[in-house]
Amino acid sequence: MRVLVIGSGAREHALAWKLRQSPRVSAVFCAPGNAGTATVAENVDIAPERIDTLRDFARAKEIGITVVGPEQPLVLGIADGFERDGLRVFGPTRAGAELEGSKAFTKEVLRRAGAPTARYHVCDDAAAAYRAIDALGTPVVVKADGLAAGKGVVVCASAGEARAAVDQLMTRRIFGDAGRRLVVEECLRGEELSFMALTDGVSVVPLASSQDHKRLRDGDLGPNTGGMGAYSPAPLLTPALEARVMETIMRPVIAELRRSGIVYRGVLYAGLMVDDGAPSVLEFNVRFGDPECQVLMLRLRSDLVELIEAVLGGGLAGCVPEWDPRPSAGVVLAAPGYPGPPETGTPIGGLDAAAEAECVVFHAATARHDGRVVSSGGRVLTVAALGDDLATAVARAYAGVARIDFAGAQYRRDIGHRALGAAAREEST
Ligand code: AMP
Ligand code: GLY
Repeated sequence: MRVLVIGSGAREHALAWKLRQSPRVSAVFCAPGNAGTATVAENVDIAPERIDTLRDFARAKEIGITVVGPEQPLVLGIADGFERDGLRVFGPTRAGAELEGSKAFTKEVLRRAGAPTARYHVCDDAAAAYRAIDALGTPVVVKADGLAAGKGVVVCASAGEARAAVDQLMTRRIFGDAGRRLVVEECLRGEELSFMALTDGVSVVPLASSQDHKRLRDGDLGPNTGGMGAYSPAPLLTPALEARVMETIMRPVIAELRRSGIVYRGVLYAGLMVDDGAPSVLEFNVRFGDPECQVLMLRLRSDLVELIEAVLGGGLAGCVPEWDPRPSAGVVLAAPGYPGPPETGTPIGGLDAAAEAECVVFHAATARHDGRVVSSGGRVLTVAALGDDLATAVARAYAGVARIDFAGAQYRRDIGHRALGAAAREEST
């Protein structure tokens, strides 16, 4: 079968890399892809938002399954468009993708499902938002309702800061229409955890656990980013916590969507805050996390095509993905300037040397220029590796990073620090 992967990040490179390994797959296409996907797939120069053009391509090439990486095409209704034409697509329809496209919608679904989340107010004008800030007290979190490339959330220590956030998001519309409506919510304490599951709209099957590193700098300092590194498994997700997340959040939310007529098929990713063993939902994503996907694909032993077919055919019940027991770690290399406007066009060398160091280098914003790989955006590479334990996986990934020649690259030196710290603490007791 031929498969089409939509997107151009390291997540999509990892998906294409994994799909290519399936004996069921004869060809992989990636739209638009990057210099890395070009090594495992045929890149197709169509932007993810051009749904009609993608659908025409999928029809013409007799694509068996289209796997959608990023959220925008899902929120725009790519699954609806493809399904209308009888094309199989991995990812929720527009209505299901509202879980990422609208924070107010998410809150309403959580409320109806009885799932734990922060207390909140949905505000359609600044005066209502100011009242919500006063009612909730500080610290408080101000969120743009719509998609804002992960930047529409402001955690505010004081009422003054919160009002300033309202002005930026709603009055000045720095993220456009995403800020037409705001969710103002209580600030939760605890440790953050990513939880990803596959669902066919009825059954929900958890994926292996993973942990992202959202801040730019070591020690979880600096500005928020799309994610600077990840590892799997995450010791924070104990079997007891996984059972609790499944029972109080994942299953009730999928059941609630079904009650309202939405059969959600694809990945459901919950961003959780865990306080003393009790999980609450901060947000949902309707796709794989990036860089979490990269470390998961490295560990996934099952055939990804078979899992996807189980999702699409409603046969996920009883399906148990098989994982490499060895941990994996991934380090993101970002261009100078990221998460602000990045410097681009920097030549990147040492990619083969890194691969020889038992790493897999997943490309994000890379392009080929005069036969050389050059940077073309903010997050540029994820260097990932497996190891017999997490410390080995991390050391291997950094050994790969050391072989890469990328002037001015920004990366964190402490990927895995929480889990490694926890392991060290355990050993010393
Ligand atoms: P979101 O995009 O909603 O996950 O928010 C981005 C980041 O803001 C999260 O990863 C958290 O670090 C933080 N955040 C969001 N909501 C809350 C909350 N209710 N309490 C504390 N931190 C939050
Ligand atoms: N790594 C966080 C995300 O993909 O949203």
